[in-house]
Parts: sequence; structure tokens; C-alpha cells
Amino acid sequence: MCGISCILSLASTQQHHHAQQPRNGEHKGITTERARLENELDQSLQQIVHRGPDSCGNWISDDCRVALGHVRLSINDLSPSGAQPFHAPDHGIHAVVNGEFYDYDRIRAQLEKELPEYTFTSHSDSEIVIALYLAHGLNFTEYLRGEFAVVLYDERKELFMAVRDRYGIKPLFWTIIDDGRGHGGKRLCVAAEMKAFLPLGWTPEWDVRSLKDAGWNHDTRTLFKGVQKLRPGHYMTCQCFGHITERPYWDSSYPDKRAIDPRTPEELIEGVRERMLESVRLRLRADVPVGIYLSGGIDSSVLAGMVAHLVKEQNISVGSAPPSERVTCFSIAFDEDSGFDESSIANRTAEWLGVKYLKKLMNEEELAKRFEDAVWYCEQHNPDLNFVGKYALSEVPQEAGYKVVLTGEGADEIFAGYPLFLPDYLREPDQAYETHNPLSAGERTKQFENAEEEAQEHYRAIGANGGTSDLSIPRRMLNGISTINGMTAFQPDVFAGWTEKAFPACDPQMTIACNADGIARHNINEKWHPLHSALYVWSKGNLPNIFLTCLGDRTEMAHSIEARTPFLDHHLTEYVNNLPPSVKLRWSPEEQRFVEKWILREASKPFITKELYERKKHPYSAPTTWPRDGPLHKLMKKLVTKENVELLGYVCWEKVGGLVDKAFGETGDAKALRLAIVVSQWIVLARRFEVKTASVQEC
Ligand SMILES: *[C@@H]1O[C@H](CO)[C@@H](O)[C@H](O)[C@H]1NC(C)=O
Ligand SMILES: *[C@@H]1O[C@H](CO)[C@@H](O)[C@H](O)[C@H]1NC(C)=O
Ligand SMILES: *[C@@H]1O[C@H](CO)[C@@H](O)[C@H](O)[C@H]1NC(C)=O
Repeated sequence: MCGISCILSLASTQQHHHAQQPRNGEHKGITTERARLENELDQSLQQIVHRGPDSCGNWISDDCRVALGHVRLSINDLSPSGAQPFHAPDHGIHAVVNGEFYDYDRIRAQLEKELPEYTFTSHSDSEIVIALYLAHGLNFTEYLRGEFAVVLYDERKELFMAVRDRYGIKPLFWTIIDDGRGHGGKRLCVAAEMKAFLPLGWTPEWDVRSLKDAGWNHDTRTLFKGVQKLRPGHYMTCQCFGHITERPYWDSSYPDKRAIDPRTPEELIEGVRERMLESVRLRLRADVPVGIYLSGGIDSSVLAGMVAHLVKEQNISVGSAPPSERVTCFSIAFDEDSGFDESSIANRTAEWLGVKYLKKLMNEEELAKRFEDAVWYCEQHNPDLNFVGKYALSEVPQEAGYKVVLTGEGADEIFAGYPLFLPDYLREPDQAYETHNPLSAGERTKQFENAEEEAQEHYRAIGANGGTSDLSIPRRMLNGISTINGMTAFQPDVFAGWTEKAFPACDPQMTIACNADGIARHNINEKWHPLHSALYVWSKGNLPNIFLTCLGDRTEMAHSIEARTPFLDHHLTEYVNNLPPSVKLRWSPEEQRFVEKWILREASKPFITKELYERKKHPYSAPTTWPRDGPLHKLMKKLVTKENVELLGYVCWEKVGGLVDKAFGETGDAKALRLAIVVSQWIVLARRFEVKTASVQEC
């Protein structure tokens, strides 16, 4: 788990030097260029040193056209031989890796048979990338299991390649910028965080269209012009310093909704349980101790329960800690009377499992203190304060001397844990599992109408846009699913007047509909059940771009914490994706309600308390009302001033002037609070990144 920053000079008309004998004077030129590049790379890595405080390394090609930089958080093979970049000198291959590959002992043993001439130089999981590439060419992505971002360079083929994991757990940004050498040359820069581009000549400018049509949330765009994310499950290649392409190597898929699933529910429960245990077991492998994030929810609790089980029943070590040592869990707790404190449930879970439980108390002042730094690490806004909570949470393992934790992220995405999925589950019958579904046809129709109505009520209550009708084009592009209404319910509609003319027809729902590619849309319309289509769309937008970012990698790595996500293991998710919808969201005739993540609950039963097994979903969240004149109110009043807002350029002061006062206090307006939080974050970003003021001339 680490940080990477890489630079590739793109071919331009003026320079096309092949690696030939240097002419007189050229030698000196190369030496100066190398020193300059090294210095730039060092500064770039300094920006992301929190991702890898243990060591730093780089490789620069002889002709200075390729530079790979790496900061290391040592987790496997703590010796210097695990330092990166990795090289296969005889083959001219070089690579840097951010992340973890699981099951690598088996893969490595296999590679040692297939490639007898290849000598491994370390015991790091990351090194398998080069050997896999030598053995399988671009197919090597097939064999990578885990969370990762990889950059590999093949000198002989002049092939530069960047790969991102299947779910976008690890980040990878890229941009093309002027090389600053004064000849109009361009370079492709690829890094783990955008701030790494700052020392490389990047001048941040707001991407106002991306803000208005929510591109930053649903496709490859960010808040900044010209900076993109590599899509999850994709790789990018740049061949011979010119041609750049991005292609998928993996995608989620779901069964044909008409095909009958002959398996019994018991078989399915056992299938999920086995795969979850395997996924957790693989993620306990590390040369440092591994802890667990524990909240009051089922997702993290089952991870803790499974770890405790593996230790006790199978004598498995938790990272470098022997099985005799007690497992450690971490959490934060809000004031008990806030209604958001789950630590008493987590405490009971911890007692029941016999694990250690470390928690940190959070209050408003502590959140306010961390707000600005958390924004800097996230590099984008987030319409509530959960990201600050997650940022504070990662301090707990750090202070206890841990570098690795397991986290329950992703369970809601694969098992259908959010209430907004319910109308789409009910939109069509589950033909695949009719005989095992307790929901009758008549009941389904009735519940569908209820669910749609409740969703509308919910949107009205939070002052949000209730979304478009079934007949809107984006919804028709996606078989009518209403989950996209929930995904776009909150929009920061405070944009300056000029942006309306400059960017007409910005429709976040259309952004979502277009983010699915044509093949996925074909499956959504012809093949997949609407619940599965909803899970697909959500897992391509909100999952990588918010949950795994602001509530994941960025706020964890800010404190040098690697969080592993057993629920996003693709062997597990491929199995779960192929289960019928009605074992994910299941009607309980006894309780007259839907049980979300039913199959997860059943698979987890032996590992969790009765309290959790029976508990209804509570999404992780920070409190949503805050007093007047408290630390948060004061902070936002200081941030959201006329002067600061005008510096953004794309926000209308008239629309945000009274916002902060409206947002706070007992009767605080929920929408105003979200807007105040978002505008405050933009202002922090504008200052810390020194973003140019947006204006109509720029567009
Ligand atoms: C690459 O993958 C394809 C399809 O899975 C397979 O047929 C081929 O043999 C693989 N090639 C290598 C070099 O692994
Ligand atoms: C459990 O594993 C530890 C090392 O991790 C070993 O020393 C011990 O003998 C094992 N105990 C059993 C009962 O297998
Ligand atoms: C749970 O809370 C009680 C009371 O505050 C405390 O004594 C106990 O140590 C806690 N248990 C764990 C596992 O932290």
C-alpha cells in the first residue's frame, strides 16, 4: 500500500531522439535533465508521502522519457528488497505498485514453474506483477486479486501501462500537461492523488461542467479540468510515447433474469459463507499486525466475527500477530445523546467475540478541527461530514501502531443494503427464484406502489429533487430504474448565472446513463433484473467516487492506514452477483417488511450476535444537526464569505449568502447544511490547491 507518481514524455514533433550514441554536449543535456526530473519526482512524491512514509524510490530511463516514482508503506517483506520500483533488468521491465495482491504465494509458486529463468528478488506480493506480465503479457490483469494501482513500463516495446483494480478501491489519476521545458512538449502524468501533479507544472482549474452535471461523481472526470480517473477494472496503455487508450479487463455481470436458479437457499448461504471466509483469510496475510474497523453494523461485525473464528478454529495469524494475541478492533464514538453513537453495540460485539476494542471520542469541536485537512486529502467535496469522521477514525489504528485494518466497505453494494434499491427490486418479479420467494405477485405490486410513494416522501422531506419520471430519457436508457433519482437527489444548485449559458443541458441523470457503456446498457435493458441494474449503476459511480474515496482510501491513507475490503473480493462478488435478487432483498411475511442483505445476514449468523442478526439497517453517518455558534457554525461562517465565494467564480453569492445561518441550530435546514458543507469544501480546495477563479471567458 503506497503512493505512485509517474511521468512519461509524449512524442512531439521537435524531439524524437532514439537511444543512440550521445553526440557531444547531449550527454550534459541528459545529465541536467535527469537531475531536474529527479527533483520534480521527489517533490511530487513529497505531496503524497502520507501514503508511504517508510521509504521512497524511483527509476528514470536512460533517455529520461520515463520516470516511475514510489513511496512505500511497508506491509509485506519489510526488508529493503521489498522497495520499489521493481525491475526485471534482463527484460527491460519496470513497475511500481500501490496496493495488495492476495493469494500471491500460490501465484508465485505457479510462476516459478512457468518461468524458471526468472529470479524473484523479494518476498513482496507486488513483485508478482512483473513475472505475471512476462508470463502472460497483457493478460496478467486476470491473475491480480485484491486492490491495486499498477504502472508498468516495458522498454523493448516502449509500452507504458497503468492498471486499476476492479472496484476502484485504489486511486489512479492522470493528466497531460506541458513539460515546462519551453518547447511545447507534453507529458502524461499518472499518480495516486491529484496533489502529486502540483510540482509537475499542473495549474488547477475548476471543471465547472463536471460540477454541474456530476461528472466527478459518476464518470472519469474530477473537480478539475483535464484531470481524469482511470476507470475501475480498466487499464490504460500508451504505446511508443503517443497512442493512449483505455480498455476494460473486467466488469460486473448478473444472470439472465428469466433463467431459473435451481439451487436451494441453503446452498446459496453456504456458498456465500465459504467465499467470505476465504476472502477474509487471504486478507489477514501481512508482515505487520492487522486490525479491524468495527461499527454497530453487520458488515464490520461479521468481519470481526470471521477473524475471531479463523484465529480460534484454524489457528490463523492476524498479520504478524500470533493466534494467541487478541484481535484488535477500532472505532470512533459520537456523543451518546446524538443518536449516532453505535459504540455501545460495537462494545457488546467486542465483548461477545473476546476481542480488544479501541475507540476515540468525537465531538463537534474535534470534527471542526479536522475539517480542512480532511478536504485536502479527499480532493473533492462530500455533502455531509462522514468523511471527517472517517478521517478521524484512521487516527485510532495509527496511534495504536497499526498499518492495516479490515473494513466492511462494499457489502451494501453487492448485497443490496440501501433502501433506495427497494423500488427497483419490486419493479419486476424475480422469475429466477419464484419457488423460493415468499413475496407473492399481488403483494409485490402493492409493495411497489408503497415503495415508490415512500421514496417521493423521503425526497420531499429532505428538500431534494424527487427525480424524473419513468419516461425521462436517462431512465429509459436504464430500463426505468429509479435508483438514479436517489443518486442525484442532492445537487448543489448555487451556480452563478453565467454557467447556465456556458453549460446548458447539464443533467446528472444523463451523466449516469452515459457512464454505463453500450454493452452494459444492453444487458440492463434486455437481461438483468432492475435490482441488479441498480447495483451495477451505483457501483460504477457512488462506490468508487465517494465511498471508496472520501470514506475510504483518501481518508485512510491520510494517516498511512491501509484498509482491506474483503467484501470487494471479485471471487466473492462474482458469486454474489449471480444470486437471484430475492435472496438479497427478501420479504419477511412474519415481520411484514423487507430484510436488506438477507443472504449476508444468513451467511453471517454463526459469527455475529443475535442483536446484530435482528437489527435493521442503520447507515454509517455523522450527526446531522449542529448548534448555532458552535465550532462548525463558526468555521463555516469564516469560510463562506463573499470574498471567498467570489474567488470560486462559479458560485452565485446571492444564493449562498444566508446559507450558513440557515443551516445551523435546532431548526436548521437540512438542505442548507449540505450546501454550506459543500461550499465550505470548495473554498478549502480553492485555497489549498490555489485553483484559478472560474469565469465565463475561460469557457
Ligand atoms: C490470454 O487469455 C486468453 C483468454 O483467456 C487465453 O486464451 C490466452 O492463452 C492467454 N494468453 C496468455 C499468454 O496467457
Ligand atoms: C498455531 O500457530 C502458531 C504459529 O502461528 C504455532 O506456533 C502453534 O503451534 C499453532 N498451534 C496449533 C495448535 O496448531
Ligand atoms: C465495554 O464497555 C465497558 C463499560 O464501559 C468496559 O468496561 C469494557 O471494557 C468494554 N469492552 C470492550 C471490549 O472494550
